Amino acid sequence: MIGRLNHVAIAVTDLESAIALYRDTLGATVGAPQDEPDHGVTVVFITLPNTKIELLHPLGGNSPISGFLEKNPSGGIHHICYEVDDIIAARDHLVASGARVLGGGEPKIGAHKKPVLFLHPKDFNGTLIELEQV
Ligand code: CO
Repeated sequence: MIGRLNHVAIAVTDLESAIALYRDTLGATVGAPQDEPDHGVTVVFITLPNTKIELLHPLGGNSPISGFLEKNPSGGIHHICYEVDDIIAARDHLVASGARVLGGGEPKIGAHKKPVLFLHPKDFNGTLIELEQV
């Protein structure tokens, strides 16, 4: 059901220094910051030959990543995103298998303007999983 690894998301407290780290120290291709008010984050995509890295920084007062950064003040891996062909079919299969889909189970439009869902980390080895329909 799942396809390619679309991205690994890393939550950061200092977006400018994280951009500089990936651009200058690691020599990667770093995109422009995009504000995603519906998701409470500013995102920066870093394009690698085989996948992407998504830097996440809190946007607004009650960002969903604020609690994560309080627990992980130096930042950390926040989620991984797998591609699926049909997000509704994937959701129905997962729910039937007993997995919990966050946020009521309806896909939202993600940072790539495509439908996304998040799966409960306790059902997936402690890893928050994003599914993106491609
Ligand atoms: Co993501």
